[in-house]
Amino acid sequence: MRRIYLDNAATTAVHPAVVEAMLPYLTDLYGNASSIHWLGQQSKKAVAKARRQVASLIGADENEIVFASGGTESDNLAVIGVAEAWAEKGRHIVTSSIEHPAVLKACKHLESLGWSVTAVPVSRGGVVDVEEVRMSLRDDTTVVSIMFVNNEIGTVQPIAEIAALVRERRAAGQNHLHLHTDAVQATGKIPVDVRALGVDLLSLSGHKLHAPKGAGALFVRKGVRLAARQFGGHQERGRRPGTESVPMIVALGAACEIAGERLAERAEHTRALRDRLEAGIRERIPNVAFNGDPDSRVAHIANVSFGDVPGEGLLISLDLKGVACATGAACSSGSVEPSHVLVALGIDRDQIHGSLRFSLAESNTVEDIDEALDALEQVISRLRTESGIDTAASAG
Ligand SMILES: Cc1ncc(COP(=O)(O)O)c(C=O)c1O
Repeated sequence: MRRIYLDNAATTAVHPAVVEAMLPYLTDLYGNASSIHWLGQQSKKAVAKARRQVASLIGADENEIVFASGGTESDNLAVIGVAEAWAEKGRHIVTSSIEHPAVLKACKHLESLGWSVTAVPVSRGGVVDVEEVRMSLRDDTTVVSIMFVNNEIGTVQPIAEIAALVRERRAAGQNHLHLHTDAVQATGKIPVDVRALGVDLLSLSGHKLHAPKGAGALFVRKGVRLAARQFGGHQERGRRPGTESVPMIVALGAACEIAGERLAERAEHTRALRDRLEAGIRERIPNVAFNGDPDSRVAHIANVSFGDVPGEGLLISLDLKGVACATGAACSSGSVEPSHVLVALGIDRDQIHGSLRFSLAESNTVEDIDEALDALEQVISRLRTESGIDTAASAG
């Protein structure tokens, strides 16, 4: 059976050139980047190069990059680090209802310590309303954290407009207000330029852009005060102490460099495949709805609700046919929990249970899409027949 991987928003394959770049640092070049001898210096140089590569992809300065273990740590460091550093100025955070748990649960943690959190709602298409953000800002707001691209539906959020609001308030004297964006699903997929966006902090993760899991970074604009989340040595200028994971950092740097070079080609390729997939679904499967504003979304994610399909069987049946994708409802502790993102869009629970996310990468082919469509058509038709749903009638 051919395997078709359409779950690239969950994680991506490591690029062969990335493996090649990191390999020497897993074998001969094992020095500690803080050691002053010849072996340590090799690692130090490699970390410095990776810092330039990451900075270059997002238009930052190299000393504005803090390496971390991934998107989750980067998000936590940004939200909690800024909130704590500016606690004497206020304890209010603005975020959105469709953030990744790495941000939402960081906010929950702060709430348990006395902060108040406003999660702004989104439109039916899954886009944050800038006016809602404006109305939620208070004099004691220190952090606004809104994601750049949503991981489930692929919508692009109006970060530059939100940054303009933040600038307005700063111009009026609210210097403790900061804007963080989780750009984990944006980096390497669409142009990300921290200056053009006007953000103070930005999170990215290696394994979403063809580096291994366990590598990530936080952009911290020069001059932004941030409290550390862990304590130890002087690495990352004390913001994220701990001996640098040189192979992972090298891998992240290499992946960022490749992503920068191939950004346009990757987007064009995945857009063509995504459009083919969506057109095929529309033509061949009745009673479907596409989630996420089509005018404001990335090229590589499609999120589709298949009406009248018992959700549990859908993902498993596709998996049995070799097609890997993700569902809008995750099984946790034996019960099926609907995605908080699809709930925030106002999609009803039955629809959510029949929702799938397909996410593409450069390595996907037209054959992948056509075979996935065949599998989908068969699986959905069988599931609907088994549950006694007349597909022709539902086609309406
Ligand atoms: C939008 C977003 N933020 C944060 C994360 C967490 O990143 P990591 O898996 O590197 O911890 C993910 C991963 O799924 C994500 O999609």
